[in-house]
Amino acid sequence: MIIKVSATSANLGPGFDSCGIALTQYLLVEVLGENKDWEVSHDLGKSIPDNEENLLVKTALKLAPDLKPHKLKMKTDIPIAGGLGSSSSVIVAGIELANELSGLNLTENEKLIIATKIEGHPDNVAPAICGGFVVASYIDGQVQSVKLNFPTCDAIAFIPNKELLTKESRGVLPNSLSFNEAIRASSIANVMIAAVSNSDLKLAGKMIEKDIFHERYRGHLVPHLPEVRKISQELGGYGCYLSGAGPTILVLSPPEKTQIITEKLGKLDSTVRIDVLKVDNEGVRIY
Ligand code: HSE
Repeated sequence: MIIKVSATSANLGPGFDSCGIALTQYLLVEVLGENKDWEVSHDLGKSIPDNEENLLVKTALKLAPDLKPHKLKMKTDIPIAGGLGSSSSVIVAGIELANELSGLNLTENEKLIIATKIEGHPDNVAPAICGGFVVASYIDGQVQSVKLNFPTCDAIAFIPNKELLTKESRGVLPNSLSFNEAIRASSIANVMIAAVSNSDLKLAGKMIEKDIFHERYRGHLVPHLPEVRKISQELGGYGCYLSGAGPTILVLSPPEKTQIITEKLGKLDSTVRIDVLKVDNEGVRIY
């Protein structure tokens, strides 16, 4: 059995903690069979456990404590702590692992609630589970989610060669916004989502870049953001935003503009990885 989970890009600017898209970059977990102890082979370095301490196994055991140990192989293209939902992909894979091996028969919404409780917010786990563009809320322990069609475009991921822990990136956010600011911020988010559902990526991109929930507080953690935004604006990108908690910056681009934008972005910093991705509509799958 192989579990395949997408990378995800959360926030889309003002959709902070609520909106996310699934992308064509993947975590693959191969279940190789029962074993004496839990064993997770991977090439991600020593900081990622290869035993029952691995987040994948911990998640599965949370749901099914009696699960027999298995040998697993984990392979991922998703950068660790990069802002593309690496930990969410592992949590979602862990839920699927328990669901399949223990026959839990979880519904999609049950998976969403479990994943959101573990992750703390639904914006990465929801698109990882459902695919596409998902708008979700997590209120009073309940997750409500709506999957919307995301118009065709390229998603250029500008991935700095450093990790940024979500904890650090959330640590710079304020505890409260004034009533007036909250109204402005949510109106920007509402128009962004409405524009996406109208397939109007030009307007959506404009609203994405008007976020006042989080990017202005995080700018110093992601020094390239203003330059990337300028390049995207000058060369015809729809809009760009801090992907999740960063440091990846995502540029939504019309396919015919992608090459020129990526070439220019590549000149900003030779240590940056640039991946051209698409939105993945399928969600988590098992082979
Ligand atoms: N919405 C979250 C954030 C995503 O921006 O902090 C990262 O987990």
